[in-house]
Amino acid sequence: MKLGFVHCSVMLKEVVEALKPTTNGWYVDGTLGGGGHAEAILEASGPDGILFGCDRDERALSATSERLARFGDRVTLSQGNFTELPRWVQAEACDGVILDLGTSSPQLDQAERGFSFQQEGPLDMRMDLQQKKTAATITNSYEEKELANLFWEFGGERESRKIARAIVETRASGLIRTTIQLAAVVEKAKPRRGAKTHPATQVFQALRMEVNDELGSLRSGLTGVWSLLKVGGHLAVITFHSLEDRVVKDFGRRLERDYVTSGDVDVPELRIPKPIEARWLQRKAVTPSPEELIKNPRSRSAQLRVLTKLV
Ligand SMILES: C[S@@+](CC[C@H](N)C(=O)[O-])C[C@H]1O[C@@H](n2cnc3c(N)ncnc32)[C@H](O)[C@@H]1O
Repeated sequence: MKLGFVHCSVMLKEVVEALKPTTNGWYVDGTLGGGGHAEAILEASGPDGILFGCDRDERALSATSERLARFGDRVTLSQGNFTELPRWVQAEACDGVILDLGTSSPQLDQAERGFSFQQEGPLDMRMDLQQKKTAATITNSYEEKELANLFWEFGGERESRKIARAIVETRASGLIRTTIQLAAVVEKAKPRRGAKTHPATQVFQALRMEVNDELGSLRSGLTGVWSLLKVGGHLAVITFHSLEDRVVKDFGRRLERDYVTSGDVDVPELRIPKPIEARWLQRKAVTPSPEELIKNPRSRSAQLRVLTKLV
């Protein structure tokens, strides 16, 4: 593992228990990060289980390829979005897929990546460094209303309008280029008043989700990822945001029904029968144990949901 690229994997034991890796199994990790889940799957599926892994972040990929080198040709890695997985992996061939969404610790901690309001860095936040759109692009070009909607929708920021106005006023006299500069604009518009979290927390989260189109990737990626699984295979998804969790829940609900609706509204008389395609491993989301929360406070908003493919 490259020095400085350490990510503490969330619910590692729970993910392995859910995927139940076997020695002839095929597995996919669509969000490799530091490679902790991938490594645990490879260990549990030894000596012959194979894993295909991808990440949008080329730095994560290069660090993780070192970590997983000892597994030799049991591992294939590729840089890219998990929405592209159906182009790389054979359909209906996999026993298990893991998506562990959000950011890795190195992305958050390396100041030059621009994810953190606590360290001076360029206002960047791209997972994929080949992408053009950065947090600075959004901060300096979105209209006031678009910014306010973004902070409200993705960040749940109550003072979204005030902050959006402050940003637009500030950028009239020069671009906002750095994390600390933006954090200061937010703090001025929304003073701390004794709050435990930094006033810019939600704004930074919303920008990150928008820069990387995180919900869009999840919405369009789930169907593709599901098509990779064979019957009996498992899809495990760890989310860190209620909007992400809702996308996963809605996806699973459609699969576990024995009908499709003929329009957006579910009118019982107009339901069209179909086979039940999936079953939740647990009805409720699994969350980190109290021990894990102490060891890794960043896991606090994590929720794991697992679906098993039935047909
Ligand atoms: C929480 S980390 C994964 C950590 C990993 N499971 C481990 O054990 O080290 C999330 C990773 O997913 C990547 N990522 C997020 N969205 C992605 C997407 N749509 N496609 C591919 N990678 C993505 C991020 O770049 C980041 O490296």
